[in-house]
Amino acid sequence: MDAKASVALVTGATSGIGKEIARQLGAAGWSVLVGARDSARGAKAVAEVGGQLLLLDVTDPLSVAAAAGSVSKLDVLINNAGIAPDTGTVVTETDVDAFRRTYETNVFGVVAVTNAFLPSLRCSAHPRIVNVSSGTGSLTWSTAANPQFDFRAASRGAGAAYRSSKTALNALTVFYAQALADDGIKVNALAPGLRATNLNPKAIAAGGDPSEAAAAAIRLALLPDNGPTGQLFSWDGTVAPW
Ligand SMILES: NC(=O)c1ccc[n+]([C@@H]2O[C@H](COP(=O)([O-])OP(=O)(O)OC[C@H]3O[C@@H](n4cnc5c(N)ncnc54)[C@H](OP(=O)(O)O)[C@@H]3O)[C@@H](O)[C@H]2O)c1
Repeated sequence: MDAKASVALVTGATSGIGKEIARQLGAAGWSVLVGARDSARGAKAVAEVGGQLLLLDVTDPLSVAAAAGSVSKLDVLINNAGIAPDTGTVVTETDVDAFRRTYETNVFGVVAVTNAFLPSLRCSAHPRIVNVSSGTGSLTWSTAANPQFDFRAASRGAGAAYRSSKTALNALTVFYAQALADDGIKVNALAPGLRATNLNPKAIAAGGDPSEAAAAAIRLALLPDNGPTGQLFSWDGTVAPW
């Protein structure tokens, strides 16, 4: 793909992994739409990493429609925006509203944004969608030892709203990939690894660098036309289990 002529949208690009994706794509010559639900935080991110601010709250239908209406051609959509309000809370003590809020952003927001931007993605010669998921949403890794991190032992049923939202996102990745295969739109999910961000402050102790996860997202955004679709990849490039 010719970076100079290519346009990418990163949702939730005001901090963490999304901001790093925007920074790296911009450095590679892409036109980057820096998705932000808050104009001040968005402007700050643009000042730091470049690109063009696109106001976009993935939970607000009017915001999604306005953002999609302002973009004519899109080569890469990176559904990165996410929240994890129930981190550390066991499922038996999690309010159902935490599930609703989490799903509004992490699941329904992805459907809304993806469907709204499909017309502009169809104008691209090599359209790609990358869903930033989580290894904690892998049911295989949640029920058996994970070579990277033992979610089963570490969480013991905590973070179920967040983790099940990512399981749902993984399922959506399969269904979108199947629905869009004939259109040449590749849809893959990324398990970015534990990264030091606002969403996961504990990873600061572990030293997880968001830039490594951002590079992995960009690899999926640049897959060749004969590359895979409908899969979950770990940040190290290996296929991760559902
Ligand atoms: N960090 C990790 O260890 C880790 C591990 C696995 C997966 N992930 C995934 O990586 C993605 C990025 O998270 P992060 O770790 O980089 O956390 P982060 O720094 O908190 O970034 C989350 C981003 O999502 C945005 N956002 C939240 N709700 C939004 C909405 N309704 N509309 C638009 N944007 C919204 C936030 O914007 P505001 O500035 O407005 O809040 C922020 O820009 C998430 O999908 C997360 O689940 C992270």
